[in-house]
Amino acid sequence: MIEEASKLLARSRFAIAFTGAGISAESGVPTFRGFNGLWKKHRPEELATPEAFRKDPHLVWSFYKWRMGLIMKARPNRAHYALAELEEMGILKAVITQNVDDLHREAGTKNLIELHGNIFRVRCTSCGYEENLKENGRLEEFLVQKDLPKCPNCDSLLRPDVVWFGEPLPRKALDEAFKLAEKADLVLVIGTSGVVYPAAYIPQIVRETGGKVIEVNPEESGITPIADVFLRCPAGEAMEKLMKRIKGLI
Ligand code: OAD
Repeated sequence: MIEEASKLLARSRFAIAFTGAGISAESGVPTFRGFNGLWKKHRPEELATPEAFRKDPHLVWSFYKWRMGLIMKARPNRAHYALAELEEMGILKAVITQNVDDLHREAGTKNLIELHGNIFRVRCTSCGYEENLKENGRLEEFLVQKDLPKCPNCDSLLRPDVVWFGEPLPRKALDEAFKLAEKADLVLVIGTSGVVYPAAYIPQIVRETGGKVIEVNPEESGITPIADVFLRCPAGEAMEKLMKRIKGLI
């Protein structure tokens, strides 16, 4: 299986990766579904919807600040670094992620499309203000503030710049992702349950336009039925093995 996956990748002309929470599991970032998943302990509709935020912004902000604090300490793992290396080698053209944790960027991926936003960015609920707290070095100070965060321009409430249930995905990111999927002759799908749309269309588009689908996941997912190669394995281990083979092939 690894053999076949590495041959396909090494021979591809325009490969992309599509990732989900599972790629960051080995970095200590909890996934959403499955055993120990976030949505086992919390109800998404109470924490990750615009209605929840209107009803109880303190509760929603406390959940996001908890996640920001946790993700802030997380470091990229072997799988994130492998994708950055594959891009450097010219094999991978882009990483399309559903993750908000910034770990692909930290590992060095350059062409990164974030479909669900970024947990370190905040934006105003009224005006166009947005800020990347991590880049501005304001994250720690932000996390200890007790009051609800307010916009420095118009004093309205700030919100996390992430996509909540029932909200549209950022137009530009989605258009770019779909274009890449149409162009790709291979998609490497890592660590996603493949049940959240429209993101989950990405591997389907690649498949429908004649491309190959390689999946890495210790469990079967919504993508498994369309996978040409299914590596039933945690991301770090699979990517390490894959990289060794690819380097031997090129
Ligand atoms: P999920 O939590 O739904 O799925 C995580 C997947 O990762 C599962 O299929 C696991 O089997 C797999 N997995 C677990 N450990 C792994 C490992 N070490 N290596 C590889 N895979 C592993 O996460 P997503 O598919 O990313 O959306 O969820 C999609 C969206 O649903 C998220 O972006 C989020 C969530 O609600 C929003 O917040 C809008």
